[in-house]
Amino acid sequence: MVPSTLYTVEEARRLSRLRLPRMMFDYIEGGSGDERLCTRNIEAFDKIDLMPRVLTNVAERDLSSHILGMDTGLPFGIAPMGMCAIATPGADQILAREAARRRIPLGVSTASSATLESVIEQSEGYAWFQLYADPAVAFVDELVGRAETSGYSVLVLTVDVPISSFRIRDLRNGFGFPMTWGPRQLLDLARHPRWSLGTLAHSLSHGTPKPMNYATSSQGASFVRGSSRARADWDFLHRLRDRWPHKLVVKGVQAPEDARRIKAAGADAIYVSNHGARQLNAAPPSIDSVAPIRAAIGDDMPLIVDGGVRSGEHVIKAIASGADFVMIGRSAMYGLGANGADGLSDIIDSFAREASSVIGLTGKTRMNDIDANCLAGAHGH
Ligand code: FNR
Ligand code: LAC
Repeated sequence: MVPSTLYTVEEARRLSRLRLPRMMFDYIEGGSGDERLCTRNIEAFDKIDLMPRVLTNVAERDLSSHILGMDTGLPFGIAPMGMCAIATPGADQILAREAARRRIPLGVSTASSATLESVIEQSEGYAWFQLYADPAVAFVDELVGRAETSGYSVLVLTVDVPISSFRIRDLRNGFGFPMTWGPRQLLDLARHPRWSLGTLAHSLSHGTPKPMNYATSSQGASFVRGSSRARADWDFLHRLRDRWPHKLVVKGVQAPEDARRIKAAGADAIYVSNHGARQLNAAPPSIDSVAPIRAAIGDDMPLIVDGGVRSGEHVIKAIASGADFVMIGRSAMYGLGANGADGLSDIIDSFAREASSVIGLTGKTRMNDIDANCLAGAHGH
């Protein structure tokens, strides 16, 4: 079955679900606890209305944007995600090439399945390195050095995973890092031969997928999914700020008080996120935190947001709500899982086409013009 062009994330999600072993799909799609925040993250966008505006010439529209010293082709990028290779073989290379082609930032996870050096190169500089305060101090120190040496200009410190969360699907599937293989997992692979054979074939030429930043560390560090990152405290942030000479972003912030303190600590941007509903299930939907965080940090600090973004319309709503830039997580993963590089490209195309249409219909032609004036109803003017 050759999939036709994917227009929606939902189509991509359904195809991914058929193709990926259940435990892989569940890891990508799942959240914590009863997962209601997964739905709430998405549905919160429905509560936002945009006001149609008329009698303006919007024939020529431009989606290009600017964030953290980077001129981008689109107002959104790809959120950092660990072990993307489980969506499709060579996922990190595909993502990197797509980032270069579109001129959009790609988040490169500490647990990425390609080395941070290879991704910054293949993305032609359109990559941000995402750091976890792994318990291995020397390993983290080495990673920051590697990011600097290899030319990253943006470092994203993720702070919403001080401990691992209660993820029921992964527990039920016996899914973790390092992976333990039993009859249940092997049966799952056997039931998804396309994925299993594709991954096997790719592994024979490129090696088995693994968290490559760990595999290439001189510190002999290994990625243990459940390990604590509680070392990421205020003191850690201050030291990182002193050490890292380029842009520093703190990801996983929802409380205005935290955002104010992070700004005072000298970070360059706040990245509002609830980790795609994968950490505190009781947290507010991510988009609902944008306006309060904007109010707390003022207009002079970049605000990035992710969580529940499933269309170009959502991207524009996030920016109208006060974000400067938007990142997409699962939407990209589902595209990859559904149809590799083409699937990812389809999803990004569809987001771009819709976003372009939406700005035009709100009477705007450039991303700079998208602000609270585009909102209708309770939030609007
Ligand atoms: C993530 N996320 C994530 N974040 C991070 O800072 N480092 C990481 O390694 C990962 N890994 C990861 C794996 C997978 C499979 C997913 C789905 C997510 C969180 C990610 O950056 C982002 O915050 C969410 O994915 C955004 O929500 P949506 O777009 O998936 O709804
Ligand atoms: C997750 C970790 C890898 O959300 O950030 O699964």
